[in-house]
Amino acid sequence: MYKILEKRVLSSDIKWFNIYAPQVAKKAKAGQFVVLRIHEKGERIPLTIADYDREKGTILIVFQEIGKTTKLLGTLEEGDEILDFVGPLGIPFKLEENVENVVLIGGGVGIPAIYPKAKELYKEGKKRIISIVGARNKDLLIMREEMETSSHELLIATDDGSEGTKGFVTTVLQNLIDEGRDLDVVIAVGPTIMMKMVAKTTRPYNIPTLVSLNPIMVDGTGMCGSCRVTVGGQVKFACVDGPIFDGHEVDFDELMRRNKMYVDKERVSLELWEKEVQR
Ligand SMILES: Cc1cc2nc3c(=O)[nH]c(=O)nc-3n(C[C@H](O)[C@H](O)[C@H](O)COP(=O)(O)OP(=O)(O)OC[C@H]3O[C@@H](n4cnc5c(N)ncnc54)[C@H](O)[C@@H]3O)c2cc1C
Ligand code: FES
Repeated sequence: MYKILEKRVLSSDIKWFNIYAPQVAKKAKAGQFVVLRIHEKGERIPLTIADYDREKGTILIVFQEIGKTTKLLGTLEEGDEILDFVGPLGIPFKLEENVENVVLIGGGVGIPAIYPKAKELYKEGKKRIISIVGARNKDLLIMREEMETSSHELLIATDDGSEGTKGFVTTVLQNLIDEGRDLDVVIAVGPTIMMKMVAKTTRPYNIPTLVSLNPIMVDGTGMCGSCRVTVGGQVKFACVDGPIFDGHEVDFDELMRRNKMYVDKERVSLELWEKEVQR
């Protein structure tokens, strides 16, 4: 069992859990994820490793409550335990040695996913980190302090203009490109549509772009096929071949279609759970 040592409420529907999982913390690297199951009858869901502390044996997860399992997870408190917490899974972020200027882009709960990479690279001190974070409004901007202390430059975009540039993360990225800034690689994590638009922005300039895909995952070990994605015309399983891929090669439209496959069932499952909770 994996104990929740610390819980923070980052916004009305985004929660932060520090979990005691020493075996996972021992090997975790930026870009990897865990698959957890709250109880024996629960479904397995993947969540990104947002930070790790090898000495304390802890793993940080930050999640948005969007359906039955994430809402149930959000009801847990400090001291509660999670049944399964498998990881680290997936291939960590890897950058070419000669890369100097790294742009890290995080949208919504993609921000915790870019944080460990920003922290790792900033600590290493060999590269210049420009982070661009985006949210619908300033109240939904999470982990701002952490990103500020792990970046040489932190740029913010909000849809409503309540903080930073009014617009999307791609508006800020395009501004950097138009200013003629040196951008050697872009790493983007967030909603699929955001990653698609980032890849579209960088493609004409041939700026290498990495994205972390979020298909539906079940086992997380390459056995079930549910996380199938098409990259460069080839079938890949995001849990073992990814989740990080070349953004210019990903078939984002197929991914978005596949992610909507179970929407009706997910809605029914959430409604049944909500009725049960209210009883
Ligand atoms: C590698 C990876 C890392 C992720 N990291 C994070 C993270 O750090 N924070 C975060 O908030 N979310 C993250 N997600 C998304 C998270 O797994 C889903 O939000 C969660 O599974 C939804 O489950 P639910 O029962 O609450 O919602 P549901 O109502 O079941 O589903 C809502 C939507 O979530 C997606 N989804 C549902 N089940 C799964 C599943 N088993 N695997 C993947 N997506 C699913 C589908 O698009 C679905 O339409 C990650 C996904 C992947 C693949
Ligand atoms: S989650 Fe089953 S193959 Fe990837």
